[in-house]
Amino acid sequence: MEVIEAIKKRQSVRSFTDREVSLEDMKKIVEAGVLAPTGRNSQNLLVVGVRDKSLITQIMNYISGGKEYYGATALVFVFEKFSDDLSELNAGAAMENMLLRATDLHIGSCWIHRGRKLFSSDAAKLFLKEVLNLDKPYLLLESIALGYQKDVVPLKEKNPSNGKVI
Ligand SMILES: Cc1cc2nc3c(=O)[nH]c(=O)nc-3n(C[C@H](O)[C@H](O)[C@H](O)COP(=O)(O)O)c2cc1C
Repeated sequence: MEVIEAIKKRQSVRSFTDREVSLEDMKKIVEAGVLAPTGRNSQNLLVVGVRDKSLITQIMNYISGGKEYYGATALVFVFEKFSDDLSELNAGAAMENMLLRATDLHIGSCWIHRGRKLFSSDAAKLFLKEVLNLDKPYLLLESIALGYQKDVVPLKEKNPSNGKVI
């Protein structure tokens, strides 16, 4: 798929079928996140893809069912490995790369910022460290709900006047 086609087709998907995302495709999506630019090339993010059903259930149970992730069959977590004044922007670049790669692979995705708050406590950071087998507890910046789209919804219109060429 051309990049512009993925940009135009990407939409937030909030309902998913039971079909699982393959390991191969998850690797491609995570790779797209890692390949994103970071300010001063700090590469201060850790991108973790999760497709194991029992792990996802455990994680969702931790946040009281995890309705914020819409029953996604796969998740991506973007952690801050070390603090950097450009972390937010770095995470944004990684996120968009991954959303576009998912679209390219015909996998539905939704950017879930809400996860940051849900996993912000020290206890939640420790929980994610254990369950995801991380070397340290890291701050969760952003996350993605992934899977195959169930309900087709129209693309949201974007305001063309928000762009200008002189
Ligand atoms: C920074 C950011 C945070 C977002 N956080 C959430 C979220 O926590 N939950 C959610 O359902 N959607 C979230 N979204 C998705 C937006 O609601 C969505 O992109 C917007 O409504 C436009 O729709 P579209 O993605 O279909 O174009 C987020 C998007 C961005 C860019």
